[in-house]
Amino acid sequence: MIHIAPSILAADFSRLGEQVRETEAAGAQRVHVDVMDGHFVPNLSMGPVVVEGLRPRTALPLEVHLMVEAPARFIPAFLKAGADSVIFHLEVVPQPGALIADVRGRNKKVGLAINPDMPVEAFEPFLGDIDLALCMTVFPGFGGQAFIAESPERIRRLRALIERHNPACELEVDGGIDHDTAVAAVRAGANVLVAGTSVFKYPQGPAAAVREMKRLVG
Ligand code: DX5
Ligand code: ZN
Repeated sequence: MIHIAPSILAADFSRLGEQVRETEAAGAQRVHVDVMDGHFVPNLSMGPVVVEGLRPRTALPLEVHLMVEAPARFIPAFLKAGADSVIFHLEVVPQPGALIADVRGRNKKVGLAINPDMPVEAFEPFLGDIDLALCMTVFPGFGGQAFIAESPERIRRLRALIERHNPACELEVDGGIDHDTAVAAVRAGANVLVAGTSVFKYPQGPAAAVREMKRLVG
């Protein structure tokens, strides 16, 4: 089952709840909340208050992608606000075992993410302990960037590692995922697609974007 995870970074924040509900009605299976601290990435985006505001508006799982230098500082507040899962970057937590165990100990799901310049083999020691491996398909910081062309090869390699170590681990991609690159990413082995611009800036609206992406990836 391929999951569509609209990234609210690209949503109209003057009517965020309404837009999230539109994607939910169209069949999106989770909401992707892109958190940026202006240090790990040059942009500053949103905090736990956004998760708190969204929580009563949608039944979808809220997954928080922490593009921040100190994820351990923020995880408790996001979980308290209602996040169902948190994803943090291996670049800033090279020994993630304790943080993975902490999130699991709170009965929440945990994912690891790597940027496009980190070999996917870096995931290998941790795949048995995580629910999701996020292979970034852009250098994080801003929506609307182009899908990095080398990504399908990375996704294929990561899929092979997941099949060997933990087939239940999800393989998520994030950045430049549109109706064309989504098909390429799924063919390479991705099963969770984060899409911001291609959903919330779609000419026919977010619901049509989600329906079309689901039709294309099956
Ligand atoms: C990192 C962010 C973005 C966002 C998706 O910059 O994680 O990748 O989710 O952005 P789009 O789908 O607009 O490329
Ligand atoms: Zn993200």
